[in-house]
Amino acid sequence: MTDRQKAEAMINIMKPEPHRVLKIVRQTRAEYTFRVEWPGVTRDGQFFMLSLPREGEAPISISGRGPGYVEFTIRKVGRLTEGVFGLEEGGLLYMRGPYGSHWPVEKLENENLIVVTSGTGLAPVRTSLMHFIEHPEARREVYLIAGFKDRHSTLFDEDREMFSQHFHTVYPLSREKEKLPGYETGRVTSFLKDIPDEVVSTANYIITGAPAVIASVTEEFLGRGAAPEKIWVSFERRMQCAVGKCGHCKMNGVYVCLEGPVFNFTQAREMFD
Ligand SMILES: Cc1cc2nc3c(=O)[nH]c(=O)nc-3n(C[C@H](O)[C@H](O)[C@H](O)COP(=O)(O)OP(=O)(O)OC[C@H]3O[C@@H](n4cnc5c(N)ncnc54)[C@H](O)[C@@H]3O)c2cc1C
Ligand code: FES
Repeated sequence: MTDRQKAEAMINIMKPEPHRVLKIVRQTRAEYTFRVEWPGVTRDGQFFMLSLPREGEAPISISGRGPGYVEFTIRKVGRLTEGVFGLEEGGLLYMRGPYGSHWPVEKLENENLIVVTSGTGLAPVRTSLMHFIEHPEARREVYLIAGFKDRHSTLFDEDREMFSQHFHTVYPLSREKEKLPGYETGRVTSFLKDIPDEVVSTANYIITGAPAVIASVTEEFLGRGAAPEKIWVSFERRMQCAVGKCGHCKMNGVYVCLEGPVFNFTQAREMFD
């Protein structure tokens, strides 16, 4: 390939294309799910770079998929996400991707599974949880601890009710003082001890959230006999190019956009800042 061909190939993989917003579901005041036309194949845990002209670009995980579409559950925090919240159904969202590694769903089948998430960390796990709802024959015991700040920040309420019918679930609210129906009060870390030892020592794990939360959750499970090679985590880093060129996403020498965002803990344990 000539230098010019290489440059053209790079422009193509970095070129956002417009896709139509099919549906917008308000989850909370600051978090909406956008269903967007997308004809291609994606894997659980991957992300797209979403953009709007003059508003910037940001990596956002796939939170759902169906025939001809993908979904993104987005928290409004800054320039791009505010712009996306200004879109209406029928509007155009620019996308490039999908990028990144994925949850190894096949490896998680027919074994116990423990999933711990906080806030929007439930979004990149939702498609895998749906997989185990749709394929009960492929699962054993599934434990889901999904934490949120308060009653106003809970996500995927209908899905979580369904998860509670099939999985062992706890939904802790860290800033609520009183217990609300269907929820517990406290942080996700307060409920890890309730999972039986025989499950902890044999299970696979999916853990998302801020690196400090991932670190404390994994530390507790490792201390109780969890195998590091059965733990999978996802890191959210600031990204610009998403194709290994700019170095923005580097964690301890590792390009999160290329090798992640999903990592096995045997690698992730070396990456904490
Ligand atoms: C792989 C991956 C998947 C993700 N998936 C999701 C998802 O599913 N849903 C979701 O809502 N988010 C997700 N994110 C996070 C999302 O990409 C960020 O929130 C992104 O910054 C939003 O862009 P923005 O332009 O709206 O906000 P920004 O303008 O980037 O601002 C975001 C926040 O960061 C602060 N900030 C801005 N610049 C800097 C800086 N240089 N240093 C420190 N702080 C700064 C701002 O003040 C603000 O509080 C994901 C990130 C990654 C890496
Ligand atoms: S985001 Fe540019 S190298 Fe990863």
